[in-house]
Amino acid sequence: MKSAEKKKAIPFLDLVAPHEELKAELCDIFRTALETGAFVGGPQVEAFEREFAKFCEARHCIGSGSGTDALLFALIAAGVKDGDVVVTVPNTFIATAEAISLAGAQPDFVDVDEHTYNMDVQKLREYFETKCEVDSATGRLFHRKSGKPVTAVIPVHLYGQMADMDPILELAEKYQLLVIEDACQAHGASYYSAKAGQWKRAGSMGIAAAFSFYPGKNLGACGEGGAVTTNDDTVARRIRMLRDHGQAQKYYHDIEGYNGRLDAIQAGLLRAKLRQLAGWNRSRREAASRYQELFGESSVVLPTEAPNAESVYHLYVVRVQNREELQKYLADEKIGTGIHYPVPLHLQNAYKALGYEKGSFPVAEKVAPEILSLPMFPQLTAEQQQRVAAAVLSFASEPALSGAGDRKYFSAAS
Ligand SMILES: Cc1ncc(COP(=O)(O)O)c(C=O)c1O
Repeated sequence: MKSAEKKKAIPFLDLVAPHEELKAELCDIFRTALETGAFVGGPQVEAFEREFAKFCEARHCIGSGSGTDALLFALIAAGVKDGDVVVTVPNTFIATAEAISLAGAQPDFVDVDEHTYNMDVQKLREYFETKCEVDSATGRLFHRKSGKPVTAVIPVHLYGQMADMDPILELAEKYQLLVIEDACQAHGASYYSAKAGQWKRAGSMGIAAAFSFYPGKNLGACGEGGAVTTNDDTVARRIRMLRDHGQAQKYYHDIEGYNGRLDAIQAGLLRAKLRQLAGWNRSRREAASRYQELFGESSVVLPTEAPNAESVYHLYVVRVQNREELQKYLADEKIGTGIHYPVPLHLQNAYKALGYEKGSFPVAEKVAPEILSLPMFPQLTAEQQQRVAAAVLSFASEPALSGAGDRKYFSAAS
């Protein structure tokens, strides 16, 4: 029997262990919901919203059916209109751009930084200066080619690390733009705002921020869920109506809305898990440090944490040049991995109409075929990490597999 066959599988993500830890508490929440019939709205949703707003250091939290709904409601409530252009990054989950289109606007992209994989502020500045112009009468920004108004920016806090929010907010102020954080991968992440002179949490810096509670997230539901956080009372009120058919009072509809509510069972389960989140995020950061030690002086390109950011390592993404072979090698060793994401959005069929082609966003295109997400979850053990690192390094040292003999195996970070 080969040694890999005897080894226990290391999952990319363990969705069972956190529920084992909390089983009694989670079952009680189900039982109470069955016994009281409180399935939609009510005290669990309200309490979760209060607690998650506090966790994010934001004034309001409004639960929603998913992170996609949260983005959509945030865009509409903040004031994005039909025919606007909203700028985001191409290396994100499609939901970021889908929400922009669902709001009636057109997504557009700027490239990312090669080290953090987050929005490159210099590229954003160049986008405004070269692809847009300011209407001298109104001061509003217009996209030159389409003639459409540019009204918002969505920085995505990718893999658990916040984008460089200070200069993004400064540019947004200069051009009168809304900033909506896509914090779907960044529950509890923080950023040192030199402008504010303090650390700020994801979800507290833009006009609004969207979170996803998809099961694999740092804070995951046992099903679908999402939330918007905001410090703006008007935006909060609008979102409460949008997610509930435009009504503040039952059957009195001030606007047309949608059914995009967070259900009460999920809210209850999320409350129990929220109490663990700070500890789970600490465990993820410890696991990231351990990977760093294990990969040591090797040439594996590891995640870069910006000096003004504290990542919560939703994903632990390394870069290699022969990613497919390594992924297969690790699978044979029973080690699960993921790719987030294999094709940048501007090269997806869904966005062909935007007219971008290969070469439009060189950094996003360069990293997409190299990135590999290694196992990362709070219950990941030191032994499991040792096996992951040993397997990656042993692959790297086998020229026949890695191609190390005739080309550089691990790509350089710059
Ligand atoms: C960056 C990003 N934005 C948006 C979403 C959408 O969230 P949901 O799947 O809850 O709709 C996700 C979830 O995968 C995400 O990772």
